[in-house]
Amino acid sequence: MAAAEKQPVTITCAGPLNGVASGLLTWVDQRFPLMSSWRDHLAEYYAPKNFNFWYYFGSLAMFVLVLQIVTGIFLTMNYKPDATQAFASVEYIMRDVWGGWIIRYLHSTGASAFFICVYLHMFRGLMYGSYRKPRELVWIFGMLIYLCLMAEAFFGYLLPWGQMSYWGAQVIINLFASVPVIGPDLSEWIRGDFVVSDATLNRFFAFHVIAIPLVLLGLVAAHILALHEVGSNNPDGVEIKANKGADGHPVDGIPFHPYYTVKDTLGVVVFLMVFSIIMFFLPEGGGYFLEYNNFIPADPLKTPPHIAPVWYFTPFYSILRAVPPMFNSQFPGVIAMGVSTLIFFLLPWLDRSPVKSIRYKGPLFRAALTIFVVVFLILGYLGTEPTNVWGQFGAWLGNADRATVVARIGTIVYFLFFVLMPWYSTIDKCKPVPERVTW
Ligand code: HEM
Repeated sequence: MAAAEKQPVTITCAGPLNGVASGLLTWVDQRFPLMSSWRDHLAEYYAPKNFNFWYYFGSLAMFVLVLQIVTGIFLTMNYKPDATQAFASVEYIMRDVWGGWIIRYLHSTGASAFFICVYLHMFRGLMYGSYRKPRELVWIFGMLIYLCLMAEAFFGYLLPWGQMSYWGAQVIINLFASVPVIGPDLSEWIRGDFVVSDATLNRFFAFHVIAIPLVLLGLVAAHILALHEVGSNNPDGVEIKANKGADGHPVDGIPFHPYYTVKDTLGVVVFLMVFSIIMFFLPEGGGYFLEYNNFIPADPLKTPPHIAPVWYFTPFYSILRAVPPMFNSQFPGVIAMGVSTLIFFLLPWLDRSPVKSIRYKGPLFRAALTIFVVVFLILGYLGTEPTNVWGQFGAWLGNADRATVVARIGTIVYFLFFVLMPWYSTIDKCKPVPERVTW
């Protein structure tokens, strides 16, 4: 058996792929790890056989990443990164470029689809404890991807040069001005000017079309390599590598190809159906995917009455607004917003539960995760609305905005989910984990 394993790879091709093709493959394989990569990452990558619905979103995120890059390349062919022409060039793409509207809507709807996939993908990680040992690095690479994705979306949003692009960028860059001592210089350095201007647009364009996508691609490769080094988790949180059969493969594993390539293809087809409906019939997503104010060209002299980021940033924006200023500075809110994203990095060490998956975790963890998700959604909603959306409490509560009070409570609960995790995950009453995966 061992001697057989050391044999050089022989490739046999049937049908129309005849001797020439297999000869070519052998030639390549002697110079480049083509077939061994195919084997290690697809044909002989053994994944748990109990993957469920939640395991679609990693491959879907990959699909959307490719979609964004391809549509982005085509948009770049007609877009003008120039403050006097950017808005008009987007209108030109929408009205005059052949197929331009579809490319643009694929890209703008794709941005929201990307975040939907990534949030569901992260939620799966939270449910099944996929961040736990030995997958800490998979999680950390995932978090770095998430930060890059936020940067990518932020830079991209300035490019159409609408009112919301302009004022959204102005608000976010101004947050850096609240950093003590270096703040004002820092925000001016980021903008490249005293206000958001052509210089800002040019550098955001450079970051959006090349710098961040390059980093993203590298991080996604690292994410997958790290995952394939340790193997995938699954809805039971059982380590399938701990139980191998006589053939040396996990008894609860199946080759990724063809089983999961077929499953993921089905996922892509269903995704494309839903995505097409939204793209063709609801491309603005009710003002959430493309904000109405962004159909008005940027006007540095006219601040819109209500500035809100796109939906995928709004939970964090709510946290920013919820924290009261100190000494007239927004810095505490900025810190809270930063920490609210970075704290996810610590999850592998905050969760002390003896089991990984929510299936075997006790009522405390289940309740904590449910409350966290509800709070995340409430904060997300509040971030899209003005702070007075729910009116005000009476004079007995200082006429405080109801929404601000709810956002403050939500912010506290948000952080408690993480801060108390070492405690509630330790005392929780977990169920015994089965030896083998179930499905
Ligand atoms: C561009 C964005 C991303 C892409 C393309 C991507 C891709 C993938 C793929 C293809 C898998 C394997 C299939 C699967 O388990 O669904 C995976 C697994 C995983 N990803 Fe991501 N990912 C992305 C972002 C993230 C983020 C933001 C996080 C978390 C912060 C994350 C955490 C994980 C974890 C923990 C696993 C292992 C899951 C398990 O084995 O149960 N990923 N990712």
